[in-house]
Amino acid sequence: MLTDLQKELTGFYDRLFCAPEFGLDGRPSAGFGNLGYFTPATPDLNTACEQLMDVLMARITRRDGLILDVACGIGGSTKCLTKIFSPAAIHGINISARQIELCRTRVPEAHFHVMTAEKMEFPDRMFDVVISVEAAMHFKGRREFLLEAMRVLKPGGEIVVADMPFSSQPSAFTSVLGGQELYPTLDSYRSLWESCGVQDVEIEDVSGPVWRGFCAHVRNTAFRDLIASVTDGGTFQERLHFAEKMNALPSLAYVIVKGRKGQRGASSHGDR
Ligand SMILES: C[S@@+](CC[C@H](N)C(=O)[O-])C[C@H]1O[C@@H](n2cnc3c(N)ncnc32)[C@H](O)[C@@H]1O
Repeated sequence: MLTDLQKELTGFYDRLFCAPEFGLDGRPSAGFGNLGYFTPATPDLNTACEQLMDVLMARITRRDGLILDVACGIGGSTKCLTKIFSPAAIHGINISARQIELCRTRVPEAHFHVMTAEKMEFPDRMFDVVISVEAAMHFKGRREFLLEAMRVLKPGGEIVVADMPFSSQPSAFTSVLGGQELYPTLDSYRSLWESCGVQDVEIEDVSGPVWRGFCAHVRNTAFRDLIASVTDGGTFQERLHFAEKMNALPSLAYVIVKGRKGQRGASSHGDR
């Protein structure tokens, strides 16, 4: 049973992601619903999203066994995983049945399930790797997700997550970002991970290439399209406004976190 907040969130993302013309920068998305990872040479958002996946996958040492993509959106992130895992070894879950349908079209050989991150229906110790891209800020809550991740990972299994912890409550995008867990410092955020039994936790602040990179990209493409007369003044203003609202969000940082389940797999939380 979904909570009212989860229903609102699912409706929001379904309307956004499942629209045929969907693209956060006004250009069609290749199945990604994240902010991407920008360098000065990044030409567009789809490339940035692939680069974010490349950065995350570089933190995974396993190349065999089963991998789980938690909150897999409409399958762009899952498709990237086929660079390092065979499609049949990939499972994806999403709270939304509509988005899962699109995932099945995008990566037909992978396995997709309508399931929440906080209550997975997989057996203990099924996966070698758990990845989740830009979704943990929606979970109710992160602790439930991390405990589930530790449960479904095999001993020694790896976890890699792109996340946006907030330091105060956002006043924009409240239908998807309302009721945030707050983390005043990265140390308090690390404590959460460690208290869930995750070992060797490494946290990397990538706010520059991701968060700031995305906002600058949305602003730049808005100006570029206006100058090239491919967009009207109203759309231009909307895109600038979107970039400003994103930029003003009270995120502590955009982080990439990696860790693993202990070899004995018997951490007090990880093996409930
Ligand atoms: C910002 S999108 C990221 C999608 C994808 N990982 C990507 O990078 O393209 C967040 C996704 O999380 C999903 N989601 C939100 N809450 C969830 C939950 N509790 N369990 C599973 N999926 C959830 C949403 O439906 C949406 O697809």
